[in-house]
Amino acid sequence: MLELTPELRTDGNKPLYTQLYEYIKTSILEEDIKSGEKLPSIRTLSKHLNISRNTVVTAYEQLLSEGYVSSQWRSGIYVEEIHHHIIRHIEVPDSFNDKINPQKNTVKYSFDLRNAQIDLDSFPYALWRKVLNQCVHSDMSELLNYGEHQGELELREQISRYLFLSRGVKCRPEQILIGAGTQQSLSMLSIILREVGDSVAFEEPGYNGARKVFIDNNFNIVPIPVDSDGIDIASLDESPSKIAYITPSHQFPCGMVMPVSKRLMLLKWAQRKGGFIIEDDYDGEFRYQSKPIPALQGLDTSGSVIYLGTFSKSLIPSIRISYMVLPEKLLYIYKARYSIYEQPVSRLNQKALQLFMEQGFWNRHIKRMRNIYKKKHDILIDSITAVLGSRVEIIGKDAGLHVLINVNNGMDEKELIIRAAESGVGVSPTSQYWYNQDCKYPTRIFIGFGGIRQEDIPVSILRLKRSWL
Ligand SMILES: Cc1ncc(COP(=O)(O)O)c(C=O)c1O
Repeated sequence: MLELTPELRTDGNKPLYTQLYEYIKTSILEEDIKSGEKLPSIRTLSKHLNISRNTVVTAYEQLLSEGYVSSQWRSGIYVEEIHHHIIRHIEVPDSFNDKINPQKNTVKYSFDLRNAQIDLDSFPYALWRKVLNQCVHSDMSELLNYGEHQGELELREQISRYLFLSRGVKCRPEQILIGAGTQQSLSMLSIILREVGDSVAFEEPGYNGARKVFIDNNFNIVPIPVDSDGIDIASLDESPSKIAYITPSHQFPCGMVMPVSKRLMLLKWAQRKGGFIIEDDYDGEFRYQSKPIPALQGLDTSGSVIYLGTFSKSLIPSIRISYMVLPEKLLYIYKARYSIYEQPVSRLNQKALQLFMEQGFWNRHIKRMRNIYKKKHDILIDSITAVLGSRVEIIGKDAGLHVLINVNNGMDEKELIIRAAESGVGVSPTSQYWYNQDCKYPTRIFIGFGGIRQEDIPVSILRLKRSWL
């Protein structure tokens, strides 16, 4: 008969059943408890550990609901064939060029280190319910009607204040356009920018989601290599483009933070060309080492920067709220010709977000999330360093919700991802971020730490070691 002897602590704030559940789950994943083995009966285990039967029942129920164990009538509870269980859920696309789509959560992993995951457990459900309730009220019936084309003015006021205080962005609320996510904001921007030029200098590698919007709006893409501190200015100078898309606060996907000196050079470039810089500050809230560097927009004195931000990383992606700060020249074009477009974001969600910010919940939430992500970041870096050591190189580790790792074991991207998936760990590819496919780094893997639980990080890295090294 299997005996379990976890160390159950009564001094912390974790309930006993959670500790027991986690102990058994980790033992199953680590194969210390093998598939087919029978768990001790509820009575035996509660007696053995001197805990209540209810504690054991709750832990077992959790394991049952997640499929780690199954119950056989009149016989007991048995450990499932865990590898097969995981592999059954992995759909490797026919053509790897389709890539495992990181946004679609159809694939379930025991340890999710993929792109675009955030900490859903920390979402402030009660506060969000509270502000939503305040919106769904007969006093607020005007919210059921069409709203302002640029988005609710009171929300824009909140955003403009927040951007000034936290990112050094200087703008009037009238310069802000609310959008339904970065791509939708960029679609509107593309329409406006067609009056300025027909090509966009784009970071190489860079955010494919943004690049696709420009391609579909008939812009030529001019890929510009990124150096260790961001986009290469000499190459940018040589390019015919007057418009550049960049991610200075946390280059996507390589993760470097652009120093102020380079930011100033970029602004000079825009002035020389009479052009525009699109600054995508998608996760600028999360920074772990350096002092805050003001957004390019805040350093700009010539009205050359279009500043873009989103609530996808800082709050939740499903809210679909982004914002774009237009310099006066472009605001003029927008107002003169394109302000007929209706606002795409629900007024109810906009109002809820405004109240959330106004009532101080937003600042509290951001502060809390910074601590949570900083802890996860530090544990991830320590685990990778300790477990994977010199066999991998960590790239871009001081900000945001992801790092890249370069794996030196002779496997290519596809094999690395499939091997990881077979051991229940989801990681993401990076090759799709290259415009010129021939210059991709074939062994760089995207490791996102937003969604995984802090305590699962070391085990997930151990699993990567077993799969790769
Ligand atoms: C560079 C970059 N910008 C913006 C976003 C967010 O886009 P959205 O606002 O559509 O959620 C992402 C998401 O991963 C991103 O990588």
